[in-house]
Amino acid sequence: MRLFHSQTEIRQFVSNQRYRDVKIGLIPTMGALHEGHLSLVKMSVEAGDLPVASVFVNPTQFNNPEDLEKYPRNLDQDLKMLESAGCQAVFAPSVEEMYPFVPDLTINFGSLETELEGKFREGHFKGVGLVVSKLFNIVQPDHAYFGQKDLQQYYIIQKLIQQLSFPIQLRMAPIMREAHGLAMSSRNERLSESDRNEAALIYQSLQEAQKELLKSTSDISAVKQRIHELFKTSDRLTLEYFEVISTDDFKPLKKIKNKATTALCIAAEIGQVRLIDNLLLIS
Ligand code: PAJ
Repeated sequence: MRLFHSQTEIRQFVSNQRYRDVKIGLIPTMGALHEGHLSLVKMSVEAGDLPVASVFVNPTQFNNPEDLEKYPRNLDQDLKMLESAGCQAVFAPSVEEMYPFVPDLTINFGSLETELEGKFREGHFKGVGLVVSKLFNIVQPDHAYFGQKDLQQYYIIQKLIQQLSFPIQLRMAPIMREAHGLAMSSRNERLSESDRNEAALIYQSLQEAQKELLKSTSDISAVKQRIHELFKTSDRLTLEYFEVISTDDFKPLKKIKNKATTALCIAAEIGQVRLIDNLLLIS
């Protein structure tokens, strides 16, 4: 596996590989890797790509400087994990390499950036859009892999690709979960064993809501109320939001119009750790 820190070197590497007629798969990450991230690399390997991962803690997507500083960084460990998953090249630039000047370009994603996660993390998706655009231009992949875990981010990237005409095929990887259903996340490291068990309620409530919503008599407001009640039974978990949304605009739905574009999204906090999860209505 090759490691590159500069834009020029990774560009050179990828353009040399193109002569071998291989498809390049890009897996953007911020490091602190776990099995969820590695599943994206494995998907790229299985597709027959030459998988290229990026490891970059992107400052422009953090609205809280303390979160940026506290974000776990362990490149050596990440490199070992990436290699074991079959990754062939890693782009790990410094902040100066990625942003030689303070970027002032902004991309407007409409309601996709202001709903749900956008409400809690102002400017977050603009930062994601900017860094992923740069990664697309630097690596010029054929395929790009993103996790369903960050569903709203996936649709931000879909919009970016469609509206900026990137010649890239976007692929969604399913959510990798721990044994009791908690979606894998680097934040889970900060949870005690009993908090992890308690947090299993997040996925359980999504499954229960999905079952209800698939019934022909389903009523979104009744389901939402039921989920709020379910969370009141836990004295450690606080529900931040539970919404049934359309993946077209991420606005909450009052009635399900198209099952194929309906998703259930949830955010909850436990022990000062904020966790998100989701289910596609038809999954
Ligand atoms: P990061 O949080 O490191 O996540 C990198 C990728 O791994 C994302 O596509 C995310 O959805 C996916 N992922 C995380 N947990 C997962 C799980 N349990 N199962 C499957 N996939 C999972 O998302 C980012 O970084 C950044 O915003 C980035 C896109 C790299 C831009 O900076």
